[in-house]
Amino acid sequence: MPCAAGFAAEGSRFQPKTERRTNKKNIRVLAATLFLAYGDMKKMESHAPAKGKLYKGTEPHGALLTTYVNNPALAAIKGKKGTMPAGAIVVKENYMPDKKLAAITVMYKVAGYNPEGGDWFWAKYTPDGKVEAEGKSGMADMCIGCHGKAKGNDFLYTGELK
Ligand code: HEC
Repeated sequence: MPCAAGFAAEGSRFQPKTERRTNKKNIRVLAATLFLAYGDMKKMESHAPAKGKLYKGTEPHGALLTTYVNNPALAAIKGKKGTMPAGAIVVKENYMPDKKLAAITVMYKVAGYNPEGGDWFWAKYTPDGKVEAEGKSGMADMCIGCHGKAKGNDFLYTGELK
């Protein structure tokens, strides 16, 4: 598992700099920064524990999925922390059956951002980084609505936290 070790050494690189700014304009900046963090995570090949690359997906995400986690998220899963800490990033790549990347969905934990929604900032991107959904309302309502069923695991389906 070389990815886990690499993570620990370089974990700080995966933190978007604009967390805690919650007005509409800055959230857009955050979504763009978050996409850069995803690029870094991808380079490290830090897959969610027990999930390989391109595993068979669950509706409504892609037919094939790859899930990446950053260092704080990985530590919370491994340590069975119950919830993810602020700064945790979980990225899901959603692929078509022909292995073509269709969308990138991201959850980013920002302290105090949305307490009733687990403080998650939600984002969905096209493969080239265009933001299709972001934040905690509008399109993100849909994300929260479904992920709310996994509230007992801090809104996460992948990675048991307890
Ligand atoms: C109808 C239910 C549903 C909706 C709507 C939904 N998701 Fe998911 N999401 C899931 C399921 C189920 C998984 C686990 C998939 C797997 O790994 O097999 C998942 C996984 C994820 C993951 C990986 C972490 C985890 O929880 O396993 C992220 C990140 C994610 N979704 C983001 C989003 C975002 C962002 C949106 C909105 C744009 C969204 N999801 C909408 C059901 C949903």
